[in-house]
Amino acid sequence: MQKILVTGGAGFIGSGFVRTQLRDYPDQHIVVLDKLTYSGNLDNLKDLDQNRYTFIQGDVNDPECVGKALEGCEGIVHFAAESHVDRSLSGASDFIDTNVGGVNTLLSQARELDIKRILLVSTDEVYGSVLEGSSVEDSPIVPRNPYSASKAAGELLGVSYFESFGMPIVITRGSNTYGPYQYPEKVLPLFISNAIDNEALPLYGDGKNVRDWLHVEDHCSGIDFVFRKGEPGQAYNIAGENERENIFLTKRILSLLGKPESLIRYVEDRTGHDRRYSIDSSKLKKLGWAPKIDFDEGIKLTVQWYQENEWWWRKIKSGEFKAYYEEHYRKRLEESTSE
Ligand code: NAD
Ligand code: DAU
Repeated sequence: MQKILVTGGAGFIGSGFVRTQLRDYPDQHIVVLDKLTYSGNLDNLKDLDQNRYTFIQGDVNDPECVGKALEGCEGIVHFAAESHVDRSLSGASDFIDTNVGGVNTLLSQARELDIKRILLVSTDEVYGSVLEGSSVEDSPIVPRNPYSASKAAGELLGVSYFESFGMPIVITRGSNTYGPYQYPEKVLPLFISNAIDNEALPLYGDGKNVRDWLHVEDHCSGIDFVFRKGEPGQAYNIAGENERENIFLTKRILSLLGKPESLIRYVEDRTGHDRRYSIDSSKLKKLGWAPKIDFDEGIKLTVQWYQENEWWWRKIKSGEFKAYYEEHYRKRLEESTSE
């Protein structure tokens, strides 16, 4: 494909995808459509050759803007979303507008065009909390928070456009992603940057919730495989195969930074906090994909990146984020315990 549309390309994973696509497909041009919400950031694309992509600031829920962005595009990779579970618990309207309405607007605009492939980026959270075993693509979809419910709704809408209109839609469900350029509301960059500043690390509940960690480059290569080789109408899990309790990850960050475990504060849990996510990506592996980045090495490199790129996250943490942090964590931290 000569020209593709990447929505949400100024976010964490979207910018990683733009970066790896430009590296791996020298003849491909990318149109990035991004609203630049609080988590969108042009600094994430700063190191890339501007001749290779076109940036359009706009909303995926604006038909005119989407129509313009789609001109001449042969494929779509749809990342744009409200992505943070905690924020969805404080108010879900933006999540419904973007994660459900945005999919509808994008697909209705694409319907009349000759688009070869449309990939909707979804999440392992649609399976809900998985206490035992691992979810496969046919497992029940039982999201348990407004964010994951909105992502599940977006997916189902996508399947309906495949069934009703034969649109070439594929879906990916990725695990918790980590790496450079992640907005520091998410646990890993939050804990790394707090630890660098000798500030408390607010660990929810008993710290024993389990997440499966997937490096952003592996997530992007999984998306690329499904985009180019996946079967229309199908969903594919993308697992990192690195299930760890949050407390394990927290201690690893502190140890890599040479900081004391006394920075860990146990705080009031997230409401409805999913205990464990676990997915099986055998289906994607049959297409030839496998994660490449070793977890220990990936975490080490990620911690190092945030140490070496304070220019990137300090700007964010001194802006909108400050008010969010105060509102979300102040009371929690006042009432926190050390075990
Ligand atoms: P992010 O919050 O870092 O980036 C989201 C991007 O979407 C931002 O650049 C933002 O400006 C843009 N955006 C938001 N609303 C928009 C709108 N209405 N119109 C246009 N642009 C808009 O999120 P992320 O972590 O990079 O996640 C990207 C995608 O991957 C999301 O669909 C998310 O559900 C999915 N996902 C994330 C993870 C993870 O661990 N981060 C794992 C699995 C799936
Ligand atoms: O699983 C994929 C999902 O991973 C994506 O779909 C979401 O977009 C992404 O945000 C992420 O969701 P999580 O809720 O798992 O990520 P978060 O970084 O918010 O939290 C990871 C774990 O860490 C979770 O168990 C909650 C815990 N946590 C998080 C924060 C922000 C804490 O203990 N303290 C915190 O301050």
